[in-house]
Parts: sequence; structure tokens; C-alpha cells
Amino acid sequence: MDVIERIWEKARQNKKRIVLPEGDEPRTVQAAAILRDEGLADPVLLGSEDRIRASAERTGTDISGIAVLDPARSPERSGYAEALYELRKAKGMTPEDAEALSADPMYYGMLMVRQEDADGLVSGAVHTTGDMLRPALQIIKTKPGVSIVSSSFLVNCQRRDLGQDGLMVFADCVVVPCPTAEELAQIAVSSADTARTLCGMEPRVAMLSFSTKGSARHPLADKVRLAGEIARKMAPELKLDGEMQLDTALVKEVGMLKAPGSDVAGRANVLIFPDLQSGNIGYKLVQRIGGAECFAVLQGLARPCNDLSRGCSVSDIVNTAALTAVQAGG
Ligand SMILES: CC(C)(COP(=O)(O)OP(=O)(O)OC[C@H]1O[C@@H](n2cnc3c(N)ncnc32)[C@H](O)[C@@H]1OP(=O)(O)O)[C@@H](O)C(=O)NCCC(=O)NCCS
Repeated sequence: MDVIERIWEKARQNKKRIVLPEGDEPRTVQAAAILRDEGLADPVLLGSEDRIRASAERTGTDISGIAVLDPARSPERSGYAEALYELRKAKGMTPEDAEALSADPMYYGMLMVRQEDADGLVSGAVHTTGDMLRPALQIIKTKPGVSIVSSSFLVNCQRRDLGQDGLMVFADCVVVPCPTAEELAQIAVSSADTARTLCGMEPRVAMLSFSTKGSARHPLADKVRLAGEIARKMAPELKLDGEMQLDTALVKEVGMLKAPGSDVAGRANVLIFPDLQSGNIGYKLVQRIGGAECFAVLQGLARPCNDLSRGCSVSDIVNTAALTAVQAGG
């Protein structure tokens, strides 16, 4: 069974309410109907009811039975505005700002998730990553005990001898541009957690660099080494090693040669990139040149919210909503 089949099965077993703030966007409307028909989640479409219905009509989508909610007219809005004001007043938000923002479907959706009126949120077919992330960081915030939000890609590659039957987790490829050693350590621990929760795998985490175990001396490699030491203190039970080069992490013979005795080298299934540039380029290389399937999730948020690419397909939205539902189920 491949990773997405497994995610669909899990989502069906524990159906969650997933809010879609870009409710009048045609791909989103079609995805909501599939989520309903496949029993993957109970979707909630946010936005003007007229526009959502017009979008459904244009795409020939039956949205009967799907919750449609207009934040501007919702009776919950004033309660959400109050909650938003309480959360952000120390940062200079006024009650008037909060009232206005609570009519914005993105903010309203985040507040629904925060107030537990929905289990998770999926957005990004229209909004940029930053436009989706900022309200998530401000309203949902981090899980207790987690210092930063980051992302993981579930990477399903053609080479079944790599990772766990071809499946690997790459991080961080979306959120933190220049992590400190402490932040990189948190990314590693959060990614191991994602590997367990979403992929059912026993994580073996490689902290990637251009150096293996001190083979090159440079402050950038030192940072990765330090991040590994911090991560081991944060999660002593975790199989985690580095700094190491990518071939040391993945190729058995190179791992044995360059990092003998390591319980990660040569069989890593979680790859931690040193910064966002290398992570983002790395996943696109395996996707575009290697033909791997890649699915992104945010990790470290108190409740799950996930971002799409603006070029996403209907099935990307369905799969991301299913992943969000599984994250919501723990
Ligand atoms: C994540 C991101 C949107 C934060 O945006 P920003 O404008 O720098 O936001 P700020 O630094 O003002 O932070 C906003 C709030 O989020 C918090 N925050 C920022 N990054 C955070 C993180 N990774 N985890 C947790 N909280 C974070 C800040 O502490 C701040 O909280 P506060 O307002 O309560 O004090 C920004 O880092 C970003 O754009 N990352 C790259 C995203 C991207 O374009 N990726 C493209 C690849 S697909």
C-alpha cells in the first residue's frame, strides 16, 4: 500500500472537520466534493455563499451536504473577533482591526481551528505561503514544548531500496529560511515525529551537510554538528546522526566507509537540510529530475494547518486535506 492509500485509510477511520478558507476557488470546491464522496473528511467551505455556489455550478460540482459558511455573516464572528483581539492586543491589534480581520476567511478559518470548531485547515491554492503561514503562526501558534513551526515533505521515490521502501521525509523545505542550530535541532525532532505519525516509520535522522563527521572544517558544518548534539539531548531515544553528506546518509557502502558504527548512515529515512535554500532545491530535484511524488505538511503547530502550492491540482487539495485529518487524529 503506498503512502497516500495509507493516509486515506487512516483519514476514513477517524473523520475530521477540515476548513477550506478559499471556498469559492474552483479546485477547492471540487476537492470538497471528493472529500465528502470518499468519506475522507467533513469539509467546510468558507466565503460568500453566492460565489461558492456559482463556482460549484461552473465546475459542475454537486456540493449538497457540504457546509458553506460566510464569515462576514456568521453569528460566531464577534466571538472570534474577541478571541483574536485577546491573542494579538499585546502586538498592537485594536478591537476594530480584530473585527475587520475576523471577516477574512483565512483569519476566520484559523480562528475556527483555534476554537476547536474545526479540526484542521488547508489553504494556498490562491494565497502565498507567507500569507497563510503568518496567521497560522499568530493564531494557532506552536504545540506545547515545540519552539518553532517548520515543514516536512513526504517523498515517495522510485528507488524502493532507499528510505523505507522508497519513502523518505525531507525537512525543512518551506518555512524557516536560516535556522539556528537550536532551530535545526527542533526541525529534526519534529520531522522524526512526522515520520512516525504520518508514515508509520521508525525514523533514522541524518543531519545533512557538505561534510561528514568533521571531514571539512567550516562554521556551516559546525552548525549542523551542533544541531545534531542539541537534537540528541532533546530526544535521546531517537536514531539521529550527523553532520553527514547525502551519499553517506543514503548509500550503505559510503555510510560504512565514512561513518562506521552509525545507526543512521547508509539507511537514513529522514533527511534534515541545513537551510531552506538547500531543502527547497533538494526536494524539487528529486521531484522534477527523479520523478518522486512529494507531499508537504507543516509540523509543530498546536493544531494542523497545511499549505498548498498555487499550481496545485484538485487531487493535491484532497490529499493535503487527508494528511491534515490524519495529523488532527494524532
Ligand atoms: C514563516 C514566515 C512567513 C514568517 O513571516 P515573517 O514576516 O518573518 O513573520 P514575523 O517574523 O513577523 O513573525 C510573525 C509571528 O510568527 C512567529 N514566527 C515566525 N516564524 C516562526 C516559526 N517558524 N515558528 C513559530 N513562530 C514563528 C513570530 O515569532 C511572530 O510571532 P508574534 O507576532 O506573535 O511575535 C517567513 O519566515 C517566511 O516567509 N518563510 C518562508 C516561507 C516561504 O515563502 N516559503 C517558500 C517555499 S514554498
